[in-house]
Amino acid sequence: MSWHPNLWHPFTQVASADPPLRAVGGQGALLELDDGRLLIDAISSWWVTLHGHGEPTIAAAIASQAHQLEQVIFANFSHPAAETLASQLAALSGLERLFFSDNGSTAVEVALKIAWQWWHNRSEGGEGPARQQLIAFEGAYHGDTVGAMSVGERSLFSAPFEPLLFGVARCPWPATWWGDDTVEERERQALSHLDQLLEVPTAAVILEPLVQGAGGMAMVRPEFLQAVQARVRAAGALLIADEVMVGFGRSGSLFASTRAGLQPDLMALSKGLTGGFLPMGVTLASERLFQGFIDSDPGYARTFFHGHSFTANPLGCAAANASLALLQAAPERYQGFAARHQLHLERLAAHPRVHRPRLCGSIAAFDLAVEKPGYLHPAGRELQRRVLAEGVFLRPLGPVVYLLPPLCLSDDQLERCYSAIRRALDDL
Ligand SMILES: Cc1ncc(COP(=O)(O)O)c(C=O)c1O
Repeated sequence: MSWHPNLWHPFTQVASADPPLRAVGGQGALLELDDGRLLIDAISSWWVTLHGHGEPTIAAAIASQAHQLEQVIFANFSHPAAETLASQLAALSGLERLFFSDNGSTAVEVALKIAWQWWHNRSEGGEGPARQQLIAFEGAYHGDTVGAMSVGERSLFSAPFEPLLFGVARCPWPATWWGDDTVEERERQALSHLDQLLEVPTAAVILEPLVQGAGGMAMVRPEFLQAVQARVRAAGALLIADEVMVGFGRSGSLFASTRAGLQPDLMALSKGLTGGFLPMGVTLASERLFQGFIDSDPGYARTFFHGHSFTANPLGCAAANASLALLQAAPERYQGFAARHQLHLERLAAHPRVHRPRLCGSIAAFDLAVEKPGYLHPAGRELQRRVLAEGVFLRPLGPVVYLLPPLCLSDDQLERCYSAIRRALDDL
């Protein structure tokens, strides 16, 4: 393990971090290192590897598309792989229009810009003042570009950029866990806070349906989200669902919004979109929003002037179509994952170091019982080292330990993950 002199790793303090492991291969749930070791990738390589590493039908679809058409400028052209993906996602989500970008952060940026400009366009058309308040939730993480950072929780990550970030109204996120008897009261308080915020004309409310990811696998009840949606609708604001992490089956449903009973106006997707093979983001929007950008004005004032060089990259689209086909062919793989976690997590929950166990779809999480928890708390890193020695790769979020494995993970591999965690907890 060593640092390469020409590389700069994300979220990494070279002065104190362990040097990176060197991956040379990936097969199913396993990563192969250059020293021959095999590791269970229990967090799907930052939540992207949906079916497993090297999934052969996705690999074949990319190869075939590469021979056919690898890239084309999407301003003047369309292509079959993008059209197939758009039709499929529209049918599955109920959101008719698909805008492509490159990753989760840009999918969020696009959603925010569409929402903002939709109100702007209405105002220019004489339909009232442009609404300018955005509401986001405490603890949210929506990405690292400036707009996505602005709607995310202010943190260690965003601190140096504070003067660049735009203001956002913030609502509490009443996260819950097994055995939590405070949730209803906290939900009531959050909703009453939201009611107050919505007294200001609001352009959009953005949330991560069911599970806040980087904010600590913080899970809320569908009832809460439905109450949020009712208020957002009553206030005439737009609802943006950031499903970058929870989309594509991670919540136990294809989309977490569906499971939560939400019908958002905009949805941001990435990560599992291509099965984790290629970087791509999409923002789905309702037809109503799309229509707000159409105008025969010769000044093009209503146009959405946003785009990326690799918009609708055909290789990404081919991977996404192949990944969706896999999900649709075997929905029981994602629908049934929570049941596979259940017994393991129940057993682990009895451990004195395990605090606030929680489960949603294929995402199982708990907090390490430590004093003064926070992202920099060393206990998570210590646990990471210990499970790594047993061939399991985890990346706790501070003291929040979670499993978010690829769907191909075998029962035996799942058992190995939980056993490694249990032993690490005993030794901590
Ligand atoms: C909910 C959510 N939104 C947005 C992002 C940003 O995605 P990306 O890292 O692909 O830019 C993430 C990344 O973890 C995420 O979890």
